[in-house]
Amino acid sequence: MNAITFLGLESSCDDTAAAVVRLRGDRAEILASVVAGQTALHAVFGGVVPELAARAHVEKLDLCVEEALDRAGTALADLDGIAVTAGPGLIGGVMAGVMCAKGLAAGAGLPLVGVNHLAGHALTPRLTDGLAFPYLMLLVSGGHCQFLIARGVEDFTRLGGTIDDAPGEAFDKTAKLLGLPQPGGPSVEAEAAKGDPARFAFPRPLMDRADCDLSFSGLKTALLRARDGVMAGQGGLTVQDRADLCAGFQAAVADVLAGKARRALARYMALSPAEPALAVAGGVAANRTIRGRLEQVCAECGVRFLAPPLALCTDNAAMIAWAGIERFRLGARDGMDLAARPRWPLDRTTAPMLGSGRKGAKA
Ligand code: KG4
Ligand code: ZN
Repeated sequence: MNAITFLGLESSCDDTAAAVVRLRGDRAEILASVVAGQTALHAVFGGVVPELAARAHVEKLDLCVEEALDRAGTALADLDGIAVTAGPGLIGGVMAGVMCAKGLAAGAGLPLVGVNHLAGHALTPRLTDGLAFPYLMLLVSGGHCQFLIARGVEDFTRLGGTIDDAPGEAFDKTAKLLGLPQPGGPSVEAEAAKGDPARFAFPRPLMDRADCDLSFSGLKTALLRARDGVMAGQGGLTVQDRADLCAGFQAAVADVLAGKARRALARYMALSPAEPALAVAGGVAANRTIRGRLEQVCAECGVRFLAPPLALCTDNAAMIAWAGIERFRLGARDGMDLAARPRWPLDRTTAPMLGSGRKGAKA
């Protein structure tokens, strides 16, 4: 088969990204992946401001595209198509990406393929490792938390997900409550390494339920209470108190994710997959304690554990270009009526989760 080369665009949250990915035979290669983050822009507001994010995407998208094409040594004319995140996400940003992609596709006479952002994350292990369907996927980031069985490029079964906050959000709020820098995940992890995870007894929400749903908002409240309890008793927090709070919180998140992963694996293994695998995506997958626990659960269940490189776990456009190639190979083409969708659950048979997180839709 000839090579298929796609440009991908991503702008559904607070990262403006463009990438060029090529599939030759059964070998996929990322020719260039450019990500322009907006962390500094939103820092003073303590969360992503959708209107500011959208404006920044409009300003940066064409620059990112230019840079990606440049780094890849590719011209628009060398492409076979353009893929773009068409949702779910913050609508202004998604619209900015979709408009940019439509303009490029129309101008260069190229096919346009709309991609579900979550499908981009979920198909990444096929880009990095050529993983065969069906595999189990855990998306854990600041905006997402769900277990999915990936059965095909457009065939996902959602086993469960968070009913409130995403774990990354809980890490970020924990950091805020303890005066640690954002993003909270890495700073809480660093503190936790110096702490005693057993000193504070944090809850393991929803572990008494046999399903694969998760909840993290109670954990955040428990942390606040524990912090206030210590402060009331001694008038402030010592460095050790803070480390112990972080360790206790992280241990609770790791326990819950590992416990629910075990349940999700049991349901997945009932399909008798030929090459059983659990893959993770999302910023929280960078956490060594969480990763270690998931690895351990996989080892116990005889399942391969896959964690793509961090740059491909967090938001990027290579995953969008790749998902575009996968859809394109199946004959998918979108027209100029491609809509930007704030909500777009991957599994159409399961009711979407309610609520919208700090970092966008949780569908
Ligand atoms: O996937 P991502 O870059 O963006 C989206 O949320 O879409 O994930 C960012 C989230 C943040 O909430 C951040 O605190 C969390 O991932 N995170 C971590 C770690 N590194 C990043 N959480 C726990 N431990 C980490 N080492
Ligand atoms: Zn994402």
